[in-house]
Amino acid sequence: MVLIDNQWQRNYQNPIGRWAGVGPYYAMFPNEFAFDVVHRFTNPGDRVLDPFAGRFSSIYASTTQGRDGTGIEINPVGWVYGQAKLHPAAQDDVKARLKEICRRSRWFGIRSQRKLPEFFSYCYSEKVLAFLLAAKSELNWRNDRVDTTLMSLILVALHAKLGSGLSNQMRQSKAMAPDYSVKWWQDNGLEIPPTIDPLSFMLKKIDWRYQHGVPTDIGSGEALLADSTVKLADLKLEIENDGKAKFKLLLTSPPYYDITHYHYDQWLRLWMLGNPPWPSKTEDKHRGRFSGSLAKWLSYNMGQGHLGHLIGQRS
Ligand SMILES: C[S@@+](CC[C@H](N)C(=O)[O-])C[C@H]1O[C@@H](n2cnc3c(N)ncnc32)[C@H](O)[C@@H]1O
Repeated sequence: MVLIDNQWQRNYQNPIGRWAGVGPYYAMFPNEFAFDVVHRFTNPGDRVLDPFAGRFSSIYASTTQGRDGTGIEINPVGWVYGQAKLHPAAQDDVKARLKEICRRSRWFGIRSQRKLPEFFSYCYSEKVLAFLLAAKSELNWRNDRVDTTLMSLILVALHAKLGSGLSNQMRQSKAMAPDYSVKWWQDNGLEIPPTIDPLSFMLKKIDWRYQHGVPTDIGSGEALLADSTVKLADLKLEIENDGKAKFKLLLTSPPYYDITHYHYDQWLRLWMLGNPPWPSKTEDKHRGRFSGSLAKWLSYNMGQGHLGHLIGQRS
């Protein structure tokens, strides 16, 4: 499905289409679907909510069509993608920051790298790993717009098929387990990671992303890094006490825990954002806590004529 009149095209030939691809996630909406639902069921100026925003496909489809969107996401990988594409920094600033990080990478040589599990020396060349350690240590991705944008573009490139990303051969959508990966690289003659110059590689990625500029004339977009079972109460207060408009559309897909585990599958990107350098399943605590309370919340805070679009929810 292609919405030419809303500038959405799958072929990346405009800023909206190009930024919509940020970034690889798991169980995400097809962008065409999110754009189409927002287009059909809301008008410009309406508010759209997604309490399980993932990479913020629904909110991005809303703001780029002149709606106001609020998304909540608990996984920082999805949040970084969302924040970057709703509020991308200026290209020159992102490139200048990249150069700074590359200069800093000389402080993250072999001595820092030896502290990491063996997976990392199979996955990345020494130069790439020094760059990643510098970015991980220096980028203030939570609070600085330039740093969030640069981090989002690093996360997109962090692992992918050989030649497309910074890593040895890997899936782009999800990181495989360390032991499995090392064995796979050994069995397939890929013990040596690819030689890549991170500066020229990332400059090309940045230029490609900004080739048509960034989306303009958009609605306001809010990306909240939070637990929606807690944060929805704040949004309720904003409506009741601060006079904010009710939401017109709920467009969301709740977590499918029996299909994927968002923290485990994104462990390598989460390491870039401060998690330990190995996968962990301990973040499962959010499972199944939201369905009853969410339904109750919606009955109070959705405006007249809303569409409650809960996809794939299991009771
Ligand atoms: C199926 S994915 C959503 C994908 C999204 N529709 C997209 O297109 O990217 C569900 C998301 O819910 C998030 N999630 C799970 N529990 C949450 C909670 N309590 N608060 C906020 N987000 C949560 C997960 O981290 C995951 O990113």
